[in-house]
Amino acid sequence: MTEAKPGTAPQPIFRKDYRRPDYTIDRVDLRFELGENFTTVHASLAVRRMHDTPAGAPLVLDGENLVLKRVAIDGRELPADHYVAGPTSLTIADPGAAFTLTTVVEIRPQDNLELSGLYRSSGNFCTQCEAEGFRRITYFLDRPDVMARYSVVVEADRARYPVLLANGNRVETGELDGGRHFARWDDPFPKPCYLFALVAGDLRCHDGEFVTRSGRTVRLEIWVEPDNIDRCAHALRSLQAAMRWDEDTFGREYDLDIYMIVAVSDFNMGAMENKGLNIFNAKYVLARPDTATDDDYDGIESVIAHEYFHNWTGNRVTCRDWFQLTLKEGLTVFRDRLFSADMGSPAVARIGDVLALRTNQFAEDSGPMAHPIRPESYIEMNNFYTTTVYEKGAEVIGMMRTLLGAAGFRRGMDLYFERHDGQAVTCDDFRAALADANGVDLEQFGRWYSQVGTPVVRARGDYDAAARAYTLTLEQAPPRGRDGGELLHIPVAVGLLGPDGPLALRLSEETAASGDTRVLELRERSRSFRFEDVPAAPVASLLRGFSAPVELEVERSDADLARLMAADPDEFSRWDAGQELARRVLLRLAGDVEAGRELALDREFVAACARILGDERFDGSLKALALTLPNERLLGQQQQVVAVDALHAARQFAVRALARALREPLLAVYKATAPQGPYRIERAEVDRRKLRNLALGYLVALGEPDLIRLAVEQFELSDNMTDSEAALACLIDHGGPERDSALARFHARWHKDPLVLDKWFALQAVSTHPDTLDRVLALADHPDFNLLNPNRARSLLGAFGLRNQHQFHRQDGRGHALVADKVLALDPHNPQVAARLVAAFNPWRRFDAARQQSMRAQLERIAAQPGLSKSVREIVDRALA
Ligand code: PHE
Ligand code: ZN
Repeated sequence: MTEAKPGTAPQPIFRKDYRRPDYTIDRVDLRFELGENFTTVHASLAVRRMHDTPAGAPLVLDGENLVLKRVAIDGRELPADHYVAGPTSLTIADPGAAFTLTTVVEIRPQDNLELSGLYRSSGNFCTQCEAEGFRRITYFLDRPDVMARYSVVVEADRARYPVLLANGNRVETGELDGGRHFARWDDPFPKPCYLFALVAGDLRCHDGEFVTRSGRTVRLEIWVEPDNIDRCAHALRSLQAAMRWDEDTFGREYDLDIYMIVAVSDFNMGAMENKGLNIFNAKYVLARPDTATDDDYDGIESVIAHEYFHNWTGNRVTCRDWFQLTLKEGLTVFRDRLFSADMGSPAVARIGDVLALRTNQFAEDSGPMAHPIRPESYIEMNNFYTTTVYEKGAEVIGMMRTLLGAAGFRRGMDLYFERHDGQAVTCDDFRAALADANGVDLEQFGRWYSQVGTPVVRARGDYDAAARAYTLTLEQAPPRGRDGGELLHIPVAVGLLGPDGPLALRLSEETAASGDTRVLELRERSRSFRFEDVPAAPVASLLRGFSAPVELEVERSDADLARLMAADPDEFSRWDAGQELARRVLLRLAGDVEAGRELALDREFVAACARILGDERFDGSLKALALTLPNERLLGQQQQVVAVDALHAARQFAVRALARALREPLLAVYKATAPQGPYRIERAEVDRRKLRNLALGYLVALGEPDLIRLAVEQFELSDNMTDSEAALACLIDHGGPERDSALARFHARWHKDPLVLDKWFALQAVSTHPDTLDRVLALADHPDFNLLNPNRARSLLGAFGLRNQHQFHRQDGRGHALVADKVLALDPHNPQVAARLVAAFNPWRRFDAARQQSMRAQLERIAAQPGLSKSVREIVDRALA
């Protein structure tokens, strides 16, 4: 456990303090003797002193929770006065310039509930080493700029652990005494230790192959627990698609003869890109139509691709230090987004990403955990696997691609790989490769790597009828509540809508009109752009495709928004205009709630929604996105003080009012989109289900028995999880006996299936029903609840604390108390997951006095806990600071 000794506050590590290591390790030989009571790890490291390290400098290796049994140099036992084994390190005085260091340690994977290092999941052994888990396996220079070649022997009982895996190629297997066996794996590619992996267990393989463009056949293996063998087909197809795509799009070919994925049930994150041996949260591998939703299928496709893409962006070229995390994560998220856009609908994908960015990353950026995509300091690195590093990091890469164009970006990527293959590098190296390959200057752009918060872009348009010219003035301002900051380089994609639709654009410096979108580059505080030949006052469509992660401030009438919503050729911007309009409507309604005024839903808004429902240009997924009202967290971000109850009441009212107004068309849509055959995971079918389930949600909200029966029937008759889950969600929000019987049936059918049961918990935790808190309290004591399983903990508590604003922030503070209790209960066992959960309190200053007081009291109670982990400590201290 990463626990501070009493009285010693954990110290931050600063980016500016980076130093190259004194020693490096070129080769690693490991032997694991896996056992039920303890595991013995033998390590032989070929260590070399760096040329500029003074002779005699001590070698300081990282190590945590290791019981040292032996230490030798070049085969000779080291005398006790030559080394010191402390709680987090092994220091060897004056070891020499080049030598082999041998250590033998004992570890206890069966007690490792932190799920970092070597641990057990469902009786199998597996590892998780990023960021700093390898030091919990053996003494090592646990930092990404030390890259070595590994040879690994895994020994275990053959009956219990028939499958023995590690990185690279299997070069030898054999029998040992006492029913044991072994396998030796060699990885020819030097790697940082965070990419090390080992798996031993009783697993089954779903296999396939991929022929690379140079004609090599790669064996693909997906390893799962025996019961899950019929749920691997989608993961395999996704992997093959990702491999082909990276060849076609970036010219990147896979480099080993085998690629393995292992699905485990206990995992802190989504998945891990260990070289040639990815270890995955089962959630991102397993899918069968009756157990996984359309969104689950998409999630699997993108995470499988993400981890695969890391082979080049992360593994072949890795990070010099953990401050550079966005070098691999921002870039790899960007790559997996490009892939998902190519696999499905680019607009739907973009809308989903922007919605998540605004809901989660903008919130992080305006709270106590705000940090640049390349942080300047951290106490616990695991706390910096954030939506800022990942998703805002991906936006920053996306802006560079917008500025350079697809071909220019590809040239930059090629140069990056050419220069840095096999190296551990920085974000600056990446940017330099893009700039050099294109002969452009990205110096000012580089400020995005150190900038904190969400910048504001203000826009103002002036139409000069006599000159038929439209002048658009863009101005950048620091994030709300922050001042100063350097000027950023911001790409703003713009179009103009005339009375008859989109205008062909001509900027004053251009000779002829062409295209309907321009990417304007704002590098100054303020700059004006003049468009010529504009026949009438246009409506500007700004930030098309969300071309920069900023907040846009612009005066627009509801009528302007309605026009954009109907006529903007950019599908993303059509959606965005609709959301802006909905946001205004809802915020006004919340004001009416607070003032005790009678509520009425804006007629223009209803009309706009009706038009979308009948608009042929929208597919079902786009309609569903357009007709989903902004969530309460997003609405709260727009308020000085989040009006928890008024927002909830306003949104609930709007849902019902919209349903009432559109009852007949919604019912017609529901009937027209009935399934015509068995479940198929195809674009048109996904679109159909999205629209149908959107309609069902609105209809059930009306609470009429006939409409509730639609959900009951869908729940009972559907052959797939997408439709059953959607129906169950409606019934849970509705409450009553239909809810209870559906929940009971669902539980009876799925209680032995962890991933499906997670849905059962999560749906209840995010419900809008007023009794949700009491039900969540009861569920926390349910025999199937297990705080120590990260997926289960997230499904109940994460869903409740991070996604149910209305119930978590109940006025009486009971929601806060519940989550704080669980943070304290979990922290001694799994501080990483506890730290994610405690982040639910981060926005506490944005609420009214009573709620602030309640959250602050919980934060203080957590902070006062003796022996609190440094993970939770860092989050709580920042929140209270
Ligand atoms: N590197 C993983 C990814 O994004 C995430 C991860 C980080 C997993 C730390 C486990 C631990 O692909
Ligand atoms: Zn990643």
